[in-house]
Amino acid sequence: MSCFFAHDLNCVRDCAGPACIAVDGKDSSVNESLLERVCGCPALPALPMVAAEVLRLASAPDAHLSRIASTLNQDATLAARVLKTVNSSAFGQRRRITSIPQAIGILGQRQLKNLVVGLTLIPALGKSKTGTFDQLAHCRRSLYSANAAKIFSTRIKTSDPDELFLGGLLMDLGVIALATALGDEYSRVLLKAPKHADLESVERQMLSLTHSRISAALVERWNLPSELAEPIRCHHTPQKSSHSVRSGAMLLYVSGLCADVYVEEDPLWAIAEIERVCREELQLTNCDANEVLSELAESTRSLGESFQIQIDPMATFAESGRRRTRKFLQINPDPREARHRAETAITEHRPIGNASPGSPTGQWFH
Ligand SMILES: [Fe+2]
Repeated sequence: MSCFFAHDLNCVRDCAGPACIAVDGKDSSVNESLLERVCGCPALPALPMVAAEVLRLASAPDAHLSRIASTLNQDATLAARVLKTVNSSAFGQRRRITSIPQAIGILGQRQLKNLVVGLTLIPALGKSKTGTFDQLAHCRRSLYSANAAKIFSTRIKTSDPDELFLGGLLMDLGVIALATALGDEYSRVLLKAPKHADLESVERQMLSLTHSRISAALVERWNLPSELAEPIRCHHTPQKSSHSVRSGAMLLYVSGLCADVYVEEDPLWAIAEIERVCREELQLTNCDANEVLSELAESTRSLGESFQIQIDPMATFAESGRRRTRKFLQINPDPREARHRAETAITEHRPIGNASPGSPTGQWFH
């Protein structure tokens, strides 16, 4: 059997388009008028006032925690979500946090800012009206991405985990913006991209504008942490980003793939690419990748409630393993052999194949 996944992967790489450029620079291949139209779309949700004020206060060099706390407490729903998030397993607190000043003391200003933005924007985006586009499913994917970015950056200690968490939440904001502003026109783009990893090249071909570019532009326009803009812009083309942001862009890229393991119908391509990125870019083993995926499933479930995003309780690492087995059985000419190899790999919690670079799970697909 030919290795159609490897062909697919090369296709995406070949179509990766122009290298990322400086955030403030102009890219002649970008449809600037469409960019303006999408970013200026009045139907896009705005950052709620309390969240904007918390962001402003927490950004000041002489920020007073008591003022930030009293502002945050003006929005009881937001304050409750902050407490729920801090007490979730994703934050690993041993004792229960019961007040906002306590939560701010633990989070610090920087993390609080990131959390407040995420906790207000994501639920708002999840409820925004975008025709036939399933924005809730999209926000669910963003929550998985954000959490994966945090887990990866905590593990390899190259970037600020909380900043990367926000980066993961915001990197695909452009998809919702495009769906909101263009409606059916963007639905046709989505139809041509069977998985999220294909979207960037399809957008480039059909619109001369990518969701990554829009996400980065919105981060800047909404005065969100500007250091996130370029990694977000390069989250599908990290290999082409400048050296200073390559690590962040690469972590966002692999985090999106981790989300795909739990939200895409077929997780095989994502898993193979996660393995490749871990091995070639992050100096992590396939076993590390499996541990990240396992932790991701557990901790994202506990975050879902705070972000008002329902997470399927069946979306576990074991269940993703069973889906892998089913896919192996579909594509392997010898079902008994495929089942044995897939189940052995999952039981032993080891990589699902001996993939060579760019060749997902090597021998099983040839
Ligand atoms: Fe994306």
